[in-house]
Amino acid sequence: MQGGRRVFSGIQPSGRSHLGTYLGALKNWVSVQDDYDCFFCIVDLHALTTPQDPKVLRANVREMAALYVAVGLDPERSIIFRQSRVSEHTELGWLLNCVARVGELSRMTQFKDKAQKGGADSASVGLYDYPVLQAADVLLYNAHLVPVGEDQRQHLELMRTLARRFNGLYGETFVVPEPMILDVGARVMALDDPTSKMSKSAPTPAGYVELLDEPDVIRRKIRRAKTDSGSEVVASPEKPAITNLLNIYAGLTGLSVSEIETRYEGKRYGDFKKDLGEVVVETLAPIRGRALELLDDPRELDDLLESGAERARKVAHATLRDAWTRMGLD
Ligand code: TYM
Repeated sequence: MQGGRRVFSGIQPSGRSHLGTYLGALKNWVSVQDDYDCFFCIVDLHALTTPQDPKVLRANVREMAALYVAVGLDPERSIIFRQSRVSEHTELGWLLNCVARVGELSRMTQFKDKAQKGGADSASVGLYDYPVLQAADVLLYNAHLVPVGEDQRQHLELMRTLARRFNGLYGETFVVPEPMILDVGARVMALDDPTSKMSKSAPTPAGYVELLDEPDVIRRKIRRAKTDSGSEVVASPEKPAITNLLNIYAGLTGLSVSEIETRYEGKRYGDFKKDLGEVVVETLAPIRGRALELLDDPRELDDLLESGAERARKVAHATLRDAWTRMGLD
């Protein structure tokens, strides 16, 4: 840690990671790790806001740690850890609960969507309060930049509001973080329904490519991805399915959508999807290989997370103490 500008981001270990998580988050984390002091968290406390099987959760945390390393995050340079092991997250979460307003949390669209699906009355209080814990995650490290997908924009806005309000009430304490949301890949849609987001809670696995899917499974899912009427490989609002596939292609190759459209002029959806399948396999097969190797040695993954938590705790504790003092808890 050089004491430079900081990045914080996290992923919930609830269900499998998929291409959306990769393009919206992980890939961009790798791209910032040379220029920032980075904190990459496995947000296991956030996962508890919806019911989890303890055995599955335990396995998912390790799998996530393996994926973080397998995509190219370097545990020497970046701090990789799990949220529950740094108790300062929940402690600052409480302080921020006393600054956040019920009206603000009630407006969070992700809560409204999720609560609506399961019935708002039976949604956990944790699900409602989730964005405050998320704010604590980032503010504890005084992170400047938060690389996330588009669906996190509103949570980032709330986090900025809470930082500013706290600073206004108690004096300059927190850095007001900026979201890093790229144009390409920030909102990957489901393969079987381009009107809904690719999600780990999707009803069927046909909608998403898991980062640990076998190459043939990936090829099949892409081949069967929904397409629109017509046959031209061009992005347009009338063609949400092919637009989504073009975005995935662009996100993985670094080509622009118009370059890809030119490349597929006069070709059919089938040709394009066949190539896209290979593009996805080329990216994910090495990640899968490395992750499986790492998962062979769970002790090493546990050690990595433990030493990450130790490093994170030092930074987090200093910020928490500062917040305590400013609020009169010293
Ligand atoms: P989570 O676990 O739902 O998703 C992890 C990251 O992946 C991005 N993402 C997507 N991006 C593009 N297209 C998609 N279909 C897609 N699906 C997921 C998400 O935007 C996110 O960046 N609340 C957060 C976790 C969190 C966090 C934080 C993030 C907790 N504390 C502090 C940043 C900073 C969440 O549930 O992400």
